[in-house]
Amino acid sequence: MGTHYEYKRKAQIAVIAITVLTSLALIALLVALIYYCYKRIKVHHRRENQSHAGHNGESDLAKLQVVADNGLQVFTYKQLHSATNGFSKSNVIGRGGFGLVYRGLLYSGGNVVIKFMDEAQKQGEEEFKTEVELLGQLRCPSLLKLIGYCTDNNHKLLVYEFMANGSLQEHLYPISNSFVTPMKLDWNTRLRIALEAAKGLEYLHEHVNPPVIHRDFKSSNILSDKQFHAKVSDFGLAKHGSDKAGGHVSTRVLGTHGYVAPEYALTGHLTTKSDVYSYGVVLLELLTGRVPVDMERPPGEGVLVSWALPLLNDRVNVAKIMDPALEGQHSMKEVIQVAAIAAQCVQPGADYRPLMADVVQSLAPLVKKTHRPQGNNLKGW
Ligand SMILES: Nc1ncnc2c1ncn2[C@@H]1O[C@H](COP(=O)(O)OP(=O)(O)OP(=O)(O)O)[C@@H](O)[C@H]1O
Ligand SMILES: [Mg+2]
Repeated sequence: MGTHYEYKRKAQIAVIAITVLTSLALIALLVALIYYCYKRIKVHHRRENQSHAGHNGESDLAKLQVVADNGLQVFTYKQLHSATNGFSKSNVIGRGGFGLVYRGLLYSGGNVVIKFMDEAQKQGEEEFKTEVELLGQLRCPSLLKLIGYCTDNNHKLLVYEFMANGSLQEHLYPISNSFVTPMKLDWNTRLRIALEAAKGLEYLHEHVNPPVIHRDFKSSNILSDKQFHAKVSDFGLAKHGSDKAGGHVSTRVLGTHGYVAPEYALTGHLTTKSDVYSYGVVLLELLTGRVPVDMERPPGEGVLVSWALPLLNDRVNVAKIMDPALEGQHSMKEVIQVAAIAAQCVQPGADYRPLMADVVQSLAPLVKKTHRPQGNNLKGW
């Protein structure tokens, strides 16, 4: 009887033990299953977030900008695509020899200008390389800042600081497809622009060794910010000059019609004095408000230099050729001084032209530290 009771008690204990162990095993299994499901959901959410952010170009990776050896930022195509609303038409602010020019807003908040190289452009490849290699090394407040570039998928794009008042050319005379509201530039503003642009060239010629010759100095390559602070842009055609005093480098003649120095056009011999000639043409544009070459004008007036040069040394004649937009609100004494500098710069003989350092010295005392026009004149921005 006692043995039977003992057996029954042991069987009950075994059943309880098995039940407890099975329950524990089930609970452990359930916990493992819940943990597995939780992990799966978390991974799924992370993937979903990443792919969503990737679509908007805003993943952590997309925000990163690589900095190249020369201090320039290397952008991905995606970053510049989202900075310009997918290179939308409404972001286009110009078109030049390199291709379309867009305004963009970087993820970091900075306003920039993005130049997108036309794929059909052969010369563009060279210009892209020169611009990146040269501007990466140069630091001067009178030169337009290159922020970075992109070479993704064979696309070539350059990213610059944004200049709210566009190019000088757009304010001097009407040009087609301008995205800037032209402003009447008063005499003091013209003088200040002339001085700042001269400082940019002086830096290239005298503070870089061997000197850099811009080769495409013109009014469309002088850009102004909100306060009409001017900077020289577009170094795609720039070339290192000879490091020997009085030396020259021989090169293919490139540049813009109406701005190219006669000896360079004839012989291909390039010196810093070729830029001084182009600078003189810009001074004539500032004085007269005329285009360098306009064959629609009466005979003898089509080429600005040929028409103006014989008139520059005579007070009465200078008064006659002044830009009517100035409405006579300028000091004739200053005008005569600037006309004399312009006449020296466009001398047919390169040796008779001044150094840019001389030009800066002559212009600096004329520039008054007065109020300048303000405003962002880009239409629709
Ligand atoms: N950094 C900038 N900030 C504001 N506007 C700019 C900037 N760079 C260019 N632009 C605008 O885009 C226009 C076209 O510029 P781009 O330099 O491509 O051609 P261009 O100077 O007119 O001619 P070229 O190709 O012969 O040099 C300029 O006239 C100017 O209005
Ligand atoms: Mg330009």
